Amino acid sequence: ETDEELVARPPVVTVMGHVDHGKTALLDAIRNAKVAAGEAGGITQHIGAYQVVTEHEGIERAITFIDTPGHEAFTAMRARGAQVTDIAILVVAADDGIMPQTIEALNHAQAANVPIVVAVNKIDKPGANPQKVRQQLTEFGLVAEEYGGDVMFVDVSAKNKVGIQEVLDAVLLTADAGLDMRAKPDKDARGVAIEAKLDKGRGAVATVLIQSGTLHVGDSIVAGTAYGRVRAMADENGVPVLAATPSRAVQVQGLSSVPRAGDTFLVIDDDRTARQIAEKREAAERNALLAKARKRISLEDFT
Ligand code: GTP
Ligand code: NA
Ligand code: MG
Repeated sequence: ETDEELVARPPVVTVMGHVDHGKTALLDAIRNAKVAAGEAGGITQHIGAYQVVTEHEGIERAITFIDTPGHEAFTAMRARGAQVTDIAILVVAADDGIMPQTIEALNHAQAANVPIVVAVNKIDKPGANPQKVRQQLTEFGLVAEEYGGDVMFVDVSAKNKVGIQEVLDAVLLTADAGLDMRAKPDKDARGVAIEAKLDKGRGAVATVLIQSGTLHVGDSIVAGTAYGRVRAMADENGVPVLAATPSRAVQVQGLSSVPRAGDTFLVIDDDRTARQIAEKREAAERNALLAKARKRISLEDFT
């Protein structure tokens, strides 16, 4: 394998922050800003991730946003060893300042070694004090560029659509400054399930983030203890997809059961092997649970 097979991929971004500081409002504002004017508001989002394309320093660049609550994305997925995010946007309401979940979120990101862009939101509000947010975060190691640090802070009003392009630029600048955003598209896909459910008509459906390779309709995959052949894929707008490349999130149909958020998936050469791997994993999980239960019982016997 050579570096030549490596191709630039879009950064994958999660939005985190204290309750009601505007995570959803920011995600909506970014998404709506990038949807063609005539379509704005007319598109229903089908999955918990979306990709936008933005012009940055004269070049069209894509960014993938993961829309599941940031804490889930970090805790559930990291518990399974999956690292999904390249960059975290930490949303802090300028009228509230830092709050317990702000700290929790930044701790998660720092523990995972994920660079942070701070979106200081609600600057339209009368009590907004964006400079105070910068001061407060300095104590936690997030020092704004204008104070000699290396963290980009962007003042935002998700409500009034102010600062949205600047957030996208800050994400791309942060990605370009310190991350190797490359992957090999010409091989079997690997990635992570970011959400999944049982759908009445379609059976198990899972949103998977492709981290390397390309996923095709017809591929045989294992995701956690689920397996199956990809029967159909769709993007965030419900549009069918035949091949999904690195940093793309797609909804996949055709799995035998519902994987969990954070389960890794990979393409397997043939259906039979996929099934065997999944069954082995399931047996291993069952045994681990049994061993745990036995241990608990034997402990209880002595106490
Ligand atoms: P949770 O998902 O519940 O943690 O909240 P959240 O962080 O997603 O916040 P959300 O986007 O739901 O916004 C919370 C409230 O703040 C809503 O009433 C929004 O309308 C309001 N809000 C969000 N952004 C802004 C803003 O820029 N300015 C003002 N004035 N209000 C905002
Ligand atoms: Na809310
Ligand atoms: Mg929300």
